[in-house]
Amino acid sequence: MKPLISPSILSANFANLAADMKMINESEADWVHIDIMDGVFVPNISFGFPVLKYVAELTDKPLDVHLMIVQPEKFIQEVKDLGAEIMNVHYEACPHLHRVIQQIKEAGMKPAVTINPATPVSLLKDIIKDVHMVLIMSVNPGFGGQKFIENAINKVKELKALIKESGSNAMIEVDGGVNLETGKRLIEAGADVLVAGSAIFKATDPKEMILKMKNL
Ligand code: DX5
Ligand code: ZN
Repeated sequence: MKPLISPSILSANFANLAADMKMINESEADWVHIDIMDGVFVPNISFGFPVLKYVAELTDKPLDVHLMIVQPEKFIQEVKDLGAEIMNVHYEACPHLHRVIQQIKEAGMKPAVTINPATPVSLLKDIIKDVHMVLIMSVNPGFGGQKFIENAINKVKELKALIKESGSNAMIEVDGGVNLETGKRLIEAGADVLVAGSAIFKATDPKEMILKMKNL
């Protein structure tokens, strides 16, 4: 099975997003990864719904929305209105994660739970059957272009085992420092979806890079 590729537009040119969205549309990318940051949960601010409303109109690819914000449950309707297929919320931002996951499903989206590098996979045991996907952060969220944290490979293996033993169908996505080299090892470890920002947008030929990742 080929991995799914979800380019993160955090590394795109915000002054010319239409061109970068066109590139994604013409590429082998499966999804579009959208990073929303609030300056509270993470030490950076990206973009919000007034901007994303127009970005969403520029593609028919499924939107994979990654909320790096406190109280993500407040924005379920806004994410739904974007036409998002997947809504990723952080484990660390949701004391009532089970409720949030149900609310995302009720809104007609696929729920995913994201864990930071310091959050163990084992904490997902009681929620793994309720989620469509787990997103393992392989950098501390907040910025593109950071160095891949090696322990993510072990976490993918551990998560794969947890999914198997619990009879869950959850997919495994990895985000942060993903390039051709780390991507290959992540897929070997069991990852299903690769998010990549700088590796794609800083490549001489971004479309070709997406194709290479797809064929890893
Ligand atoms: C980081 C974001 C990522 C980011 C990845 O907080 O969640 O999606 O865009 O960027 P790269 O691929 O450059 O590490
Ligand atoms: Zn992300």
